[in-house]
Amino acid sequence: MKMMVVGGGGREHALAWALARSPTVQAVFVAPGNAGTALEAKAAAGPGRKLRNVNLAVDDFEALARFAKHEALALTVVGPEAPLVAGVREYFDARGLPCFGPSKAAARLEGSKAFAKAFMARHGIPTARSETFTDAEAATRYIRARGAPIVVKADGLAAGKGVVVVRQDAAQAEAAARAMLSGERFGAAGRQVVVEDFLVGEEASFICVCDGRRAVPLATAQDHKPRDEGDRGPNTGGMGAYSPAPVVSRAVHDRVMASVVRPVLNGMAADGAAYQGFLYAGLMVAPDGAVQVVEFNCRFGDPEAQPVLMRLRSDFAALCLAAAQGRLPPEELDWDPRPALGVVLAAGGYPGAYRGGDVITGLAAETPDTKVFHAGTVDRDGQVVTSGGRVLCVVGMGEDLAVAAKRAYQRAAGIRWRGVYYRRDIGFRALNRANV
Ligand code: AMP
Ligand code: GLY
Repeated sequence: MKMMVVGGGGREHALAWALARSPTVQAVFVAPGNAGTALEAKAAAGPGRKLRNVNLAVDDFEALARFAKHEALALTVVGPEAPLVAGVREYFDARGLPCFGPSKAAARLEGSKAFAKAFMARHGIPTARSETFTDAEAATRYIRARGAPIVVKADGLAAGKGVVVVRQDAAQAEAAARAMLSGERFGAAGRQVVVEDFLVGEEASFICVCDGRRAVPLATAQDHKPRDEGDRGPNTGGMGAYSPAPVVSRAVHDRVMASVVRPVLNGMAADGAAYQGFLYAGLMVAPDGAVQVVEFNCRFGDPEAQPVLMRLRSDFAALCLAAAQGRLPPEELDWDPRPALGVVLAAGGYPGAYRGGDVITGLAAETPDTKVFHAGTVDRDGQVVTSGGRVLCVVGMGEDLAVAAKRAYQRAAGIRWRGVYYRRDIGFRALNRANV
């Protein structure tokens, strides 16, 4: 069978590569893909040889559906949130084309933070106390009354930049809320804001494959959102990730399934928006093991997908297909027990302004137990050049996390371009924990 992945980032490279590992899959098209998904076809061996880029935009539903129909695709797997929130699933459903990803109504869990908070309150899912505002005066009064630390979030999609965490000076939170509500900061996405209590603990990414009624958890992961070492500096889409997440103990895992994942599946079904697709719960795990939901995403994480899917041994294509048909198998998934760790190589300046068009060298020097997933890259006359903020994710695997990190960093050290930037401390929490 043939499949398609919609998107062109590092997550989509990993999704396509994982689908292609299935012996029943002959081809995986990536729309639009990147230089990494294009290069796979030229590799000497490996599942990636089944990958083909197709030059279609993620928001061109008509062209995507036409291609899916023409190629008689067994499944289209949607990577990013924007087309899901805009209703790509309904568009495919209406034409009888198999598609994996939540409907527009279900994707509101990510598309509207106000909806997600109200949904969690309605279904008793643990999350920080919050209020939702459209009026700046009311928001200001609430922020003054609660005081710092406090968190202000734009309601709609803001490319991971719509969250302002204020640790000390509540006036900064008031200013952020006013800028959002005036439409200055995020346009329509900020016309409503959620003001939320600050949560203390360690974050984890808990991602499940859902078939509308049931959820199968994937291996856990943790990512590093801040740009700089020690988890400082501005927030980004994610500067590195590793799997598994040691903070998610067996007890925490069971708690998340019982108090978060199952209530989401049941609640969405009861509300008439059964959830099918990847469900990403961003969690805060308190020192005593209590779990709160920081956010939901209606998609796989990026860069979590890269290390998580490196570890998956089960047939990923069969899993996605079964989920899309509402018949997830009851068995647990089979994982490589070795940890995997991915380091994001970014263009200097990201998440602010950065340059594109720099030639990347050193990509071909393969080393054992590593893989380079591409994100913002394009092929320019046979050379791979940068074309985005997050450019590559170099993943290493090893018998423990320290070895996985060493392999990833050794491979990363051989890859160069003018202005390459990456953190040298990905995995520090888990590595410190292992040293205690
Ligand atoms: P979000 O886009 O909702 O994941 O928020 C981005 C990041 O902001 C999260 O990964 C957290 O690091 C931080 N954050 C969001 N909400 C809170 C909260 N209530 N308390 C502490 N940190 C938060
Ligand atoms: N890495 C965080 C995210 O995908 O939202």
